[in-house]
Amino acid sequence: MVDHSDDSESLGLGLRPGDDHYRAYVGPPEDYDLIAAMTFNLLTTLGLRQHHSLLDVGCGSLRIGRLLIPYLNKDKYIGIEPNEWLVTEGIKRETGEALVQIKRPKFFFSDSPKPLIEAKISVDFALAQSIFSHCGLDLITEWLFGISHCLTRGGALVATFLPSADDSTLTGWVYPDCVSFKPETLERIAAKANLGFEILDWKHPRQTWALFAKAEFDATWFKTRSLTWNARFDIAPDRKM
Ligand SMILES: C[S@@+](CC[C@H](N)C(=O)[O-])C[C@H]1O[C@@H](n2cnc3c(N)ncnc32)[C@H](O)[C@@H]1O
Repeated sequence: MVDHSDDSESLGLGLRPGDDHYRAYVGPPEDYDLIAAMTFNLLTTLGLRQHHSLLDVGCGSLRIGRLLIPYLNKDKYIGIEPNEWLVTEGIKRETGEALVQIKRPKFFFSDSPKPLIEAKISVDFALAQSIFSHCGLDLITEWLFGISHCLTRGGALVATFLPSADDSTLTGWVYPDCVSFKPETLERIAAKANLGFEILDWKHPRQTWALFAKAEFDATWFKTRSLTWNARFDIAPDRKM
């Protein structure tokens, strides 16, 4: 008989977001798989291919990294995360050391983009899943300027946030509580950081997805069509996406 007694413990099911468990710490453990699927599908629908490089801001326990690291070519995944224990647990429980040796993801352990700029990191895509929902406007501004600095001319950031009629006045990192902002406020900060801003029609169980793109990123094809895999495929039948 298979002993499942350890399953619920290792998956963190029933624990609350922020609890001291590698899955629960980053969000409701019941959604750990779903958040990964939603994000991977969004990135690939927007055009992420194996040769692209990607920065995962607040990569946590590699909930999404565990799909991105094997998908991308060697050296193309970069994660930044202040809580090193989450990355350690993610490698131990999700990816395994062998994958790290094969794909050579790079990790920075920091709560700000400074080390990325010092290391002259340049990426095609950036991701901030459930990060701006925990940042005051001061920190969002720092991240948007930092990420913009790292993105190529045709690059783009996808990020989730919580829209509201008023802006939270909290500053710094807010966790596990959430903060919310007017979309216009984020659009204004994005413009100062040389990034566009648009809300994406891509469902999330609790938050809203937004695209913060550089001017040369092709976001035209889903202005008149739905943001779907089929529409993406139709605009690039040669698969040169
Ligand atoms: C809600 S979790 C999301 C983790 C990951 N993005 C995901 O979707 O699985 C927020 C993550 O941000 C990290 N974090 C904490 N302070 C941060 C900061 N100042 N900037 C960026 N990320 C931070 C936390 O340690 C945690 O891993």
